[in-house]
Amino acid sequence: MTNIILLGPPGAGKGTQAKRLEEARGMVQLSTGDMLKEAIAKGTDLGKLVEGIMARGELVTDEIVIGLIEAKMREGAQGGFIFDGFPRTLKQADALGDLLSRMGQGLDAVIEMQVDDAALVARVTGRFTCGNCGAVYHDVTHPTKVLGACDVCGSTDLKRRADDNEATLKTRLMEYYKKTSPLIGYYYAKEMLSSVDGLAEMDVVSADIAKVLDRT
Ligand code: AP5
Repeated sequence: MTNIILLGPPGAGKGTQAKRLEEARGMVQLSTGDMLKEAIAKGTDLGKLVEGIMARGELVTDEIVIGLIEAKMREGAQGGFIFDGFPRTLKQADALGDLLSRMGQGLDAVIEMQVDDAALVARVTGRFTCGNCGAVYHDVTHPTKVLGACDVCGSTDLKRRADDNEATLKTRLMEYYKKTSPLIGYYYAKEMLSSVDGLAEMDVVSADIAKVLDRT
């Protein structure tokens, strides 16, 4: 069982690589972003509470996301968890450490996906996802094989995110640098941090992540 964090700014490729790890290693992706988007899509009280915050590109409160993660972790995962988009603050990082130790588990690696801001605009504005299975695509770098239909499940429900525009990306990046990037030092000091080049081709990024996991 291997538990890892994929750490990186919006558009770094965390979701793309998490889905590949699920397939390759039987791990379970825990994406707080996806959990919150699901709540919005279902129109729950939580969804109503966070919709505006997410549309502005700001972070929702630590208490909300820690609660979501704890509930999902209790469902278990044989191959281990891939934390995608969590933790995003030092408080969340401490809470994750506590949760794992209470469950008799630990973190095996924190993988920082290094990218530069200029590439992120193109990544985020070209992204679309399958509304049925969550597969992630890009207009230029990863289009569907058949126009308008998901490669994985065939659904034609392909969607773009409300926060995937240049203006909101600026706020999301600012939130990342202010609140999330301190985690790089935090996990470096704990001797858990590895870095991969997130600007490389998707297969190369996957191979680099596999090398990190095979060392753990
Ligand atoms: P969330 O959904 O987590 O968004 P994010 O962190 O901003 O990350 P993204 O999903 O935008 O990017 P990604 O790194 O997964 O990239 P992807 O693989 O899709 O969070 C959304 C919001 O929810 C936050 O703003 C916040 O409000 C809230 N939230 C969530 N978690 C929270 C928390 N813990 N605390 C507080 N608030 C929280 O790739 C992007 C594109 O690039 C795709 O089109 C893909 O095909 C393409 N691509 C990927 N890799 C490559 C490659 N190597 N080469 C070329 N193209 C590539």
